[in-house]
Amino acid sequence: MAKARDGAEPAARWRELVEQIDDARRRYYGDDAATLSDAEYDVLFRELEALEAAHPELVSADSPTQSVGGEASGMFAPVEHLQRLLSLDNAFSADELAAWAARVERDLGAVPELLCELKVDGLAVDIVYERGRMRSLATRGDGRVGEDVTYNARFIPAIPKSLTASAEHPVPELVEVRGEVYFPTAAFDALNLEVTSQGLSPFANARNAGAGTLRQRIDSRENELAAMREKGSTTVARLEGELDLALKRLGGLQLVVHGIGVWHGHEPARQSEAYAALRGWGLPTSERVQVVPELAGVQAYVDFYGEHRHDVEHEIDGVVVKVDDLATQGRLGSTSRAPRWAIAYKYPPEVVRTRLLDIEVNVGRTGRVTPFAVMAPVKVAGSTVSMATLHNQEEVVRKGVLIGDMVFLRKAGDVIPEVLGPVVEDRTGTERAFVMPTHCPSCGTPLAPAKEGDVDIRCPNQRSCPSQLRERVFHVASRGALDIEGLGFKAAVALLDEGIVADEGDVLGLTADQLRASVFFTRADSAEGRVLTANAEKLLVELETAKSRPLWRVIVALSIRHVGPTAAQALAREIGDLDRIATSGVEELSAVEGVGPIIADAVVEWFAVDWHRDVVRKWREAGVRMAEERVDAGSRPLDGVTVVITGTVEGWSRDGAMLAVQEAGGKVSGSVSKKTDFVVVGENPGSKAEKAVALGRPVLDATGFAVLLEQGPDAAREAAVPPLA
Ligand code: IVH
Repeated sequence: MAKARDGAEPAARWRELVEQIDDARRRYYGDDAATLSDAEYDVLFRELEALEAAHPELVSADSPTQSVGGEASGMFAPVEHLQRLLSLDNAFSADELAAWAARVERDLGAVPELLCELKVDGLAVDIVYERGRMRSLATRGDGRVGEDVTYNARFIPAIPKSLTASAEHPVPELVEVRGEVYFPTAAFDALNLEVTSQGLSPFANARNAGAGTLRQRIDSRENELAAMREKGSTTVARLEGELDLALKRLGGLQLVVHGIGVWHGHEPARQSEAYAALRGWGLPTSERVQVVPELAGVQAYVDFYGEHRHDVEHEIDGVVVKVDDLATQGRLGSTSRAPRWAIAYKYPPEVVRTRLLDIEVNVGRTGRVTPFAVMAPVKVAGSTVSMATLHNQEEVVRKGVLIGDMVFLRKAGDVIPEVLGPVVEDRTGTERAFVMPTHCPSCGTPLAPAKEGDVDIRCPNQRSCPSQLRERVFHVASRGALDIEGLGFKAAVALLDEGIVADEGDVLGLTADQLRASVFFTRADSAEGRVLTANAEKLLVELETAKSRPLWRVIVALSIRHVGPTAAQALAREIGDLDRIATSGVEELSAVEGVGPIIADAVVEWFAVDWHRDVVRKWREAGVRMAEERVDAGSRPLDGVTVVITGTVEGWSRDGAMLAVQEAGGKVSGSVSKKTDFVVVGENPGSKAEKAVALGRPVLDATGFAVLLEQGPDAAREAAVPPLA
């Protein structure tokens, strides 16, 4: 050991130190058998720091020194992929698959050999190995730039940190590989069991759990823990527990590689040969890859896994078919979105059977009473489902389901679960029909349709029905309304149950003293009795911010029937003042573009109720801004700018991204033309992305979009992604 320390080459010593430190960390977090004392660990760590200071060329992104002391920004650093990660075109039927094969055959004038493999429902990653060592591991991001999760990758044993060379498979100087990170179904189930046993909500599916796990901020948690340890804080044990769990989760992730990007060195001739090389270097490849001579073989493969979908240890959502010969792949080429030499055959949405245990009703924010199915929990398309809305009584009748029936349940991908209908032949005669309650399950008030002939029935006790109150208070804080992050559903329930607020009118004026009287918003402190929780402190700050949100958000927060963001924006834009909106008649209101007579009626009706006007008065007294801010050019940086948004922009919901553009004064358009100023391209973009390139319009990724919103169009033009060659 001493000899190595004094005499070894710097690079060799560096590797040795990194391995020892990594190993110590893994042991420390993975199980309790620590191999090094803290002091020994520190000595090694300092030696590594000194070595890197003397030899900066040795520092790589995955060095342990690169993660400690970093700022907890809540974000990962961007990494530009060496070669763009493309998407795949889909085929949803045997015919579509055959059409793809026919086109390939026509383009080539021959039938190429095809490689079939499973489409893993995981998270795409891009890994770069330089001289055999992992340089970076990044998420897919927008295909060009992903997030750097290298630090986390080191805690995933399934991902090799260095490649093994052999005579048969020498390791290239530089190689970029692509694959999916996923949770095996069993690990996912175990994780959800652990999560739910702690009283937390389970992950919806293995894919979400994988994404959540890979993107945990391990490094900042470590830093936080280190700082707490230094202070001798009592929260150390909790943080240690959290970190432990976070790392155990990471340890459960698996990898399968299915592609190559940049490859410096002797390149393989076939996709299947590339896999053999990848496997030779120690990378996990699928054992279910098959090369077939023609389409019939593909169809047999698709049929086989259609039947044996659940025999695979991870979730799959289809089969990927690739032309095996790499030169032929090159001849076929790619569109800006996807290669022509590959296609994803997607399995149809899954239908399962489960028992309909009961039909219960839910009372919504505006009093609407909605029946929903309570079912024996069942796994469908990767997640466990036990509830599904049935919309209204007519729908229950239309579907013909009885309580106690076996029912067919469907869920396609992320789509909401849906009860399709009963398995009639399984009936025993003990099933019973659902009867819509006559009284509100929450407050006991007799239910009635709002108007004669309405399908929906409502609880008319809007003012004090506990269900409606909870939903309305929660709604005030929701993202589409005043966006108060510290006020979630549980907090809303606590505020009402503890009598801190009587209704939504009291929410904006909440004070620290009021929250101090709450059990939910305080915790015990040995010195000071009960003190506000961090969440409560945060809530007070956020309430202040919420008071100066744009007028349309205030209008949405009022829970006026039929008034969503679009109508609220129209009202705010055209009338600009809540007092004027309150005193406008139906005629005046329905003259506003985007506001029809139904909405106008609802607004007039709403303001006619005295306690509604009290809500407005209380908000005003709390300091909520009730008029549109005078618009100056400075606050509307996107005045006259037209933006098209396609795909999912990382960090934004679709509506959120649109609203952000509109709030800044810009216009969102549905189609790309020469007049489009910017096309924002997110994940899984549609053909608009191609059109943007064809018309030479500036394309923005998620980062560029942030520049547009924060710095305006000039800066965004600079940040635009150069058009594809
Ligand atoms: S090949 C250029 N093979 O599916 C071809 N992708 O829907 C790139 N995926 O982003 C992809 N399993 O992350 C390929 N065996 C497989 C795959 C696979 C899952 C993912 C991949 C891609 C997405 C496209």
